[in-house]
Amino acid sequence: MSFHAAIFDLDGVIADTARLHLQAWRQLAKELQLPWNDAMEEGLKGLERMASLEVILGHRSPDFTDGEKVALASRKNDCYRALIETLSPADLLPGAGELLHWLRSRHIPIGLASASKNAPAVLNALEIADCFTYIADPSAAAPKPAPDIFLAAATGLAAEPAVCLAFEDAAAGVDAIQAAGMTAVGVGDRNALQNADHLLNSLVEFEPERFFSAHNTPSPISASIA
Ligand code: BG6
Ligand code: MG
Repeated sequence: MSFHAAIFDLDGVIADTARLHLQAWRQLAKELQLPWNDAMEEGLKGLERMASLEVILGHRSPDFTDGEKVALASRKNDCYRALIETLSPADLLPGAGELLHWLRSRHIPIGLASASKNAPAVLNALEIADCFTYIADPSAAAPKPAPDIFLAAATGLAAEPAVCLAFEDAAAGVDAIQAAGMTAVGVGDRNALQNADHLLNSLVEFEPERFFSAHNTPSPISASIA
């Protein structure tokens, strides 16, 4: 099968930012004296901000009003924003920069399907924003495992879902890719990602020549998020 477009999750696939999200949530849990369970960590991957907060609050959730929850999520986000200020190209995960440049040099359209509203800031800090043909807007899409964000990315790339190869580190993301009718490459934890069509320990193992053939015409650059 030759794919025409590549779509990436960001946190935990392109950059080691999944651990920064967890660090910020762990900090909030500590401040609120909530129990932190390491087993929660895999389940938090890929979860949208307010859904993550509900997991952290657990049975204490009813103790907080909606307004207080928004303030807590914003507190976590301030902590996360401070953490990503330290990011640089050195924080690209192994193989990520090489793969993006391989695809770019062959004019294969590249989309981003991240749940994170901080994705544009992270891409800028990693100095890879220019690699992306289209960045899907997470605030306009139902959260993973719904297929919406991957379908939005495919639409932005003008590619049919069946010819999109998509990369994820979270089980909810693999489910979203497959619900979108795309082929899923799971990167990371083999137990969590066993439903993926292809499994990799890291992007270093990915052999792009087996999946893509070069496009003849350059793809337009049109990032969607401001
Ligand atoms: C996902 C992360 O990419 O984005 C989650 O895997 C995070 O951990 C989610 O909660 C939302 O991110 P943000 O930056 O909008 O809070
Ligand atoms: Mg991820």
